[in-house]
Amino acid sequence: MRLSFLGHSCFHLATEQGELLFDPYLSGNPLAAAKADQITADAILVSHGHSDHLGDAIPISKRLGVPIVAAFELAIYCEQKGANTHAMHIGGDYTFPFGWVKLTPAWHGSSVLEGERIIYTGQPCGFLIKSGGQTVYFAGDTGLFGDMELLGDLYDIDLALLPIGGNFVMGIEDAARAAKMLRPQVVVPMHYDTFDLIKQDPEELAQRLQALKIDCRILQPGEATTI
Ligand code: NI
Ligand code: MN
Repeated sequence: MRLSFLGHSCFHLATEQGELLFDPYLSGNPLAAAKADQITADAILVSHGHSDHLGDAIPISKRLGVPIVAAFELAIYCEQKGANTHAMHIGGDYTFPFGWVKLTPAWHGSSVLEGERIIYTGQPCGFLIKSGGQTVYFAGDTGLFGDMELLGDLYDIDLALLPIGGNFVMGIEDAARAAKMLRPQVVVPMHYDTFDLIKQDPEELAQRLQALKIDCRILQPGEATTI
């Protein structure tokens, strides 16, 4: 599979079974490496309602006619805005033409701001994906939690996408501990450097993961890697 980092927590993943887009925060992202109107995908996976994750999901869904896969309340919000959606919830799984998807817990919030109103959009989530014979874990925005050990026990994870920026999500130390529990072949860090508040040195994670014999691949926005 080929993973392209488009900035922040936005990735494009192309497997033998299809193309997935994660948390497409492109418009308004100072480090975005793609334009929303140029993206292709078979589905858009959105971890929660915050603007740095929902991003351009609704216009991309409308343009391509592909579903936004999200937790129920966020899916309903997107549907009311005219997007295609596939609602799921934590612990539930579904087999799509592009692969199998399961929603995992995430310790975070999920809301959309409309002017001065805050609209809560249910539980935030992460995603487990099996596509083209490989398994990917996209953690979403989350703090460290012990059930990552369970995910590591239950799934043979080839690639884990982990937030490292701190303040809103895990920092380096917690992300390293997460990787120890998840036991993936490859870790790609995300959710750092986009804003001053989440500046981080990903090389520090790479050093910690080296000791665990986990391959840490640091991608700059616009870079891609094959797994
Ligand atoms: Ni968030
Ligand atoms: Mn975020």
